[in-house]
Amino acid sequence: MKTRITELFGIDYPIQCGGMLWLATPELAAAVSNTGAMGNLTSGNYNSADEFAAAIDRTRELTEKPFIVNITTMPSIRLPVELLKDFFRVSCEKKVTALEIAGAPVDTFLGPEFIPMAKEAGVKVLHKVGTVKHALHAEKVGYDAITVAGFEEGGFPHGDNVGTMVLLPRVVEAVNLPVLAAGGMVDGKSLAAVLALGADGMMMATRFVATTDCAVHPNIHERLVQAQENETSLHLRGLLSAFGLQVRGLNNAIMRKIAEVEQAGGDLAELFPLISGQRALEVWKDGRVDEAMLTFGQSVGRVYDVPSVSELVARIVREAQTALTGALEKF
Ligand SMILES: Cc1cc2nc3c(=O)[nH]c(=O)nc-3n(C[C@H](O)[C@H](O)[C@H](O)COP(=O)(O)O)c2cc1C
Repeated sequence: MKTRITELFGIDYPIQCGGMLWLATPELAAAVSNTGAMGNLTSGNYNSADEFAAAIDRTRELTEKPFIVNITTMPSIRLPVELLKDFFRVSCEKKVTALEIAGAPVDTFLGPEFIPMAKEAGVKVLHKVGTVKHALHAEKVGYDAITVAGFEEGGFPHGDNVGTMVLLPRVVEAVNLPVLAAGGMVDGKSLAAVLALGADGMMMATRFVATTDCAVHPNIHERLVQAQENETSLHLRGLLSAFGLQVRGLNNAIMRKIAEVEQAGGDLAELFPLISGQRALEVWKDGRVDEAMLTFGQSVGRVYDVPSVSELVARIVREAQTALTGALEKF
């Protein structure tokens, strides 16, 4: 396959794994990249620049193929802005293929010198956006590509609540950059649909959790396969209002508790123990699916099995061809 995204990254298939705190590790990144798609190494997994640099080296031991580094540019106690700047610098020093920025734009959150730094190092920079306005800003300040994440997405959808079906073509029409579609993507039908809507590829995250290469407890895989499309809920709109964001995750006991605290006007001190990333880290390992925020998207409703990453990517490519040919035959 050949699109502006396969050309930009130097990959075979226009499929990227999204940033996933604790789960987008060197092992998963390499498994995805080795298929010819684009693996993701999420910098937020690491507590120092050295640990992160070692993770890049580890990924390179496991694959010779390109991979992307996610930097989530949001205020965090564990990941202060200075550390995020270090993650950016290390990525440039190590000349990773690309950076996926999610949250505030690099030029305002880290500083105006960072995009030129990436250009100098030959590192491509993508911004994940949930509005046309943010896509236009990214184009203006020199990003190389855009990831459009619709309201369906797991993690932090934009508070405008616009779904991928409308937001994606709006962004494609507004900017002159390669575009990846995210939010609700799971299979070859998703890829065919977003290519038809003008995207250059798709990014997915929830679907990659449901693979044997993603190191989570079997209970997590079982819950992903069972979950229906109406089993996610949205929270933390108040807490994340400065960013216009909210959180989407599986509607489990902890999400219902978060909703109660929010309705009672609870503040960060009350919410923090429920939403802390540490909780999720434990649950991915011990499988107590009701005990942490599991940031799955509406795409859970279309996860039916737990293949290996290589089976999944091969299947997506086959299915996309069949879906596109099938659509043409209807003319
Ligand atoms: C388990 C999990 C953890 C995530 N962690 C992050 C993260 O650390 N940073 C980020 O930018 N997005 C994160 N996301 C959001 C994804 O990168 C992506 O935008 C979204 O999940 C796409 O929608 P989908 O899950 O329907 O494919 C996470 C998603 C999941 C499923």
